[in-house]
Amino acid sequence: AVGVQRLMSTKTDGINTITIFGAGLMGAGIAQVSAQAGLKVILTDVTDKALENGLNIINKSVARVGKKQQPDDIEGFTKKVLANITTTTDAEQAVSSTDLVCEAIIESIKVKRDLFAYLDKKAGANTIFASNTSSLGISEIAENCTEERKALFGGLHFFNPVPAMKLVEVVRTDKTSEATYQALFDVTKRMGKVPVACKDTPGFIVNRLLVPYLLEAARMIDRGDATKEDIDIAMKLGAGYPMGPFELLDYIGLDTTQFIADGWVDKAKAGVLPEALVEPTSSIVDLVNKGELGRKSGKGFYDYTKK
Ligand code: NAI
Repeated sequence: AVGVQRLMSTKTDGINTITIFGAGLMGAGIAQVSAQAGLKVILTDVTDKALENGLNIINKSVARVGKKQQPDDIEGFTKKVLANITTTTDAEQAVSSTDLVCEAIIESIKVKRDLFAYLDKKAGANTIFASNTSSLGISEIAENCTEERKALFGGLHFFNPVPAMKLVEVVRTDKTSEATYQALFDVTKRMGKVPVACKDTPGFIVNRLLVPYLLEAARMIDRGDATKEDIDIAMKLGAGYPMGPFELLDYIGLDTTQFIADGWVDKAKAGVLPEALVEPTSSIVDLVNKGELGRKSGKGFYDYTKK
């Protein structure tokens, strides 16, 4: 009964301050869309250099938005958005007074679990916790938090590039309270995003369907069923996809896709996913072993160095 009372008094309808852990590609994007929505943003990372990197990403991206939304005064627009963002490397201070923690640090279950266990002790009793993980379970990440916090814990899965991609998957575990879920849903709308509701299952909605499709495309070339060029043309012109599977694999990064697939092997063994979905593909594994990871390394299924 005490738990219920606490939940009912939870200040979940007004998220005004968001603390973001991780000032990398995703964290910077989430900070930007939050600041543009008028939220007070506290951006956190482990080093000043990482924070500087995040602010650089935000600066460039906000200027691009300003160019469209306020072409007469891009500088004014940028200034106004950036005024909503403060930075710190002090994790304790970053959560001392905040409504929502959104985590976008490295994809490691141990590091995420430890961070949230620590933050659970430092943050206010009503602070909502969310992870932007792509491939880990939200319940597993929340495992070392108190039962009270687990009711305030959910997933906020943004897509890259955050300022451009409209979708956010709002993930609820068996323990996420209705009020928490509603608050997460509402805050993404305030950011100008379109939220969808998902359970805490591997890959949520998008990656659960996308990753098996990408892996099967790679297995098609393993088997010699078709060429990568023809498969890309076929899916663009036959299924109406904006990118073919190999173009998309190169964009996402082959190491990232492989990492998700490897993480799912254990889930398949546990019977949570069909084994066939995670069957290894030699074409992806071979490229990853050669360091050809896609666009970011200059080469993947296609060569980007010539353009
Ligand atoms: P990234 O490598 O660009 O950035 C991660 C940042 O976290 C780095 O700046 C690092 O210094 C920082 N960090 C590491 N440990 C930390 C800690 N204990 N406290 C504070 N900061 C810490 O990574 P990226 O791509 O932004 O991914 C972050 C998360 O978002 C991962 O969980 C990833 O799975 C997820 N994600 C990534 C997507 C993508 O397309 N890259 C899409 C959707 C989700």
